[in-house]
Amino acid sequence: MAVITVDSGRLGAAAELEHCRALEVGNILLFPRTPFELPEADRTFLLTQRQVGAGYHKNIAYRPQSDRVTGFVKRGGGDAERLRRVLRDYSARVVESTAAMFPTYARAWRLDFASFRPQEEAGRELSQRARNDLLHVDAFPTRPSGGDRILRVFTNINPTEPRVWLTGDTFERLAEQFALSSGLLVRARRRTPGQRLRRLARALGVPVSIRSPYDTFMMGFHHFLKENHRYQETARKERHVFPAGATWMAFTDMVSHAVLSGQYALEQTFIIARESLALPPKAPISILERIAGAEMA
Ligand SMILES: [Fe+2]
Repeated sequence: MAVITVDSGRLGAAAELEHCRALEVGNILLFPRTPFELPEADRTFLLTQRQVGAGYHKNIAYRPQSDRVTGFVKRGGGDAERLRRVLRDYSARVVESTAAMFPTYARAWRLDFASFRPQEEAGRELSQRARNDLLHVDAFPTRPSGGDRILRVFTNINPTEPRVWLTGDTFERLAEQFALSSGLLVRARRRTPGQRLRRLARALGVPVSIRSPYDTFMMGFHHFLKENHRYQETARKERHVFPAGATWMAFTDMVSHAVLSGQYALEQTFIIARESLALPPKAPISILERIAGAEMA
């Protein structure tokens, strides 16, 4: 795992392939200067925002599909509408900039939520499973990916302070170590009545909301890593400092990560279709299917 500094002006098929491969195997791409426009007035406005019930809402979320914002303190005076406009503009610009660098991903990606993280991460009191300072790989409880991948673009809009991460082994190494020994892989593949119904519905081409074995595993694995004190204490860790004004991106289903400190970050999530990957065998679902010797979708 490495943090690779990237020139956002380098576009074209060769650069795209190089960047896709670097990301898909579990590296972080870093842009020392944010590669899209973020107007000074918008950034200043964001620095004044607070969020509600920090235990319940981890972040302020923006849903591009429905143009809705959740998790912030309403103070009247048109702030709600302005926040929505600022996050809508941010989302549109980061999407445009990422699509220019990754046209192959962009053709089939699903745009997920954007978020604004106004809380100081150091010393935050969150439940064990919600804690950001414990190493984990991402899985979303409410939005199963079905084997597609989670690409996230982060921007540190703090005017002075860096955002500090820890990273550990890639999903590939963690899965080799823990997928079978934790019992999670066997449990995720259990032929429950729900799973039988899901298979039947899929065979008939009927949409069904029952979680795939892959998503069951990934959610369980997220919790397993955060709740495993021995793993947290003994894991190989590297510290990364993302300076004020930097943007970085990673497949957070591959890079195990934790946030140690930092306040005021923007983030946009993209769900990248399995079919559009440069290295399909490096997708977590392919890694698990190799270990299980069976399909996980
Ligand atoms: Fe995460």
